[in-house]
Amino acid sequence: MNITTKFMGFEIKSPIIVGSCDLTSNIENLLKIEQAGAGAVILKSLFEEQITQEMNVNVRVLSSNFSGYPEAYDYIKQSTRQESISKYLDLIKEAKSKLTIPVIASINCISASEWMSFVKKIEEAGADGIELNMFILPSDINLSHEDVERLYEDVVQVIKRATSLPISLKISNYFTSLTRFAQKVSWLGISNLNIFNRFYTCDLNIDTLETYPVAKLSSQYEFYNTLRWTAILSHEIRSNLTSGTGVYRTEDPIKLLLAGADTIQVVSAIYTEGYEFITKANEKLISWMEAKGYNSIPDFKGKLATRKNKDASSFHRVQFMKYYSGIE
Ligand SMILES: Cc1cc2nc3c(=O)[nH]c(=O)nc-3n(C[C@H](O)[C@H](O)[C@H](O)COP(=O)(O)O)c2cc1C
Repeated sequence: MNITTKFMGFEIKSPIIVGSCDLTSNIENLLKIEQAGAGAVILKSLFEEQITQEMNVNVRVLSSNFSGYPEAYDYIKQSTRQESISKYLDLIKEAKSKLTIPVIASINCISASEWMSFVKKIEEAGADGIELNMFILPSDINLSHEDVERLYEDVVQVIKRATSLPISLKISNYFTSLTRFAQKVSWLGISNLNIFNRFYTCDLNIDTLETYPVAKLSSQYEFYNTLRWTAILSHEIRSNLTSGTGVYRTEDPIKLLLAGADTIQVVSAIYTEGYEFITKANEKLISWMEAKGYNSIPDFKGKLATRKNKDASSFHRVQFMKYYSGIE
């Protein structure tokens, strides 16, 4: 049974890929991910914010020794930045020397300029591709939707000029017109669109009157949003499509393939079920394909995407009226 699929220009052995998360930041876990049967892995993102924060901590700790020497601050900042970056480059090199599946580096971008030189180093370290984890919550009242979209487009274009590596763009679903944006950005030459990334969420404590973080992992119900957008976007974009968020059951990857995804990203299910989830999802896919008489993924991929299937028009449906009529 052939379950190979396309991802960022590679033919990979399984459509199940492990998304960027804390588990993908060390070599022991990466080896387990490969052994469990994943087709590719995306390393933990290096965050612009994280580097800046580490630089500031070091400056605070060491500043007493260097008071009166402003050039020392620049030195400390620069060396801390180099340290964070070189640790990341070491992880890429080690992963590439020990794994056979594609290893994708991930950077969290807000500004393209910060990453220009780093992207070249990622390429030299041997990464097979770069994922841009772009996290712009459209909360700034001064930014129009065109401004927000332009930020994404600018980053993609600048990074594309800086590297010949294939690029995956990971986005959220906070867009005024997600389909149009996804199509536009796929025309900019990205190899893969990854839906969706996950925002930090917080709650309010009514006793302490403080905020606190909640729900690190996704819920199973988030899957239906992923399924809907996969069915809608898969025929509109030029790049490969990775779909994920809320994939918890072994049949979920099959549904996303039917909706047109090329690959399925899993994270939360691995936190809750362990790496075995990857093996079980591959086994489920193979047994389902055997039962249906499919020999390879192209035999059924996108069969239930909205363009191909009139029943899939329900993915465009947003009103519950008919569904709930009669329920008191
Ligand atoms: C603990 C944890 C850490 C994560 N770190 C990153 C990250 O560094 N970069 C990134 O692009 N996504 C990160 N994510 C988001 C996941 O890659 C994924 O997009 C999200 O969890 C939805 O998939 P899931 O429902 O399978 O968890 C993280 C998720 C979790 C749970």
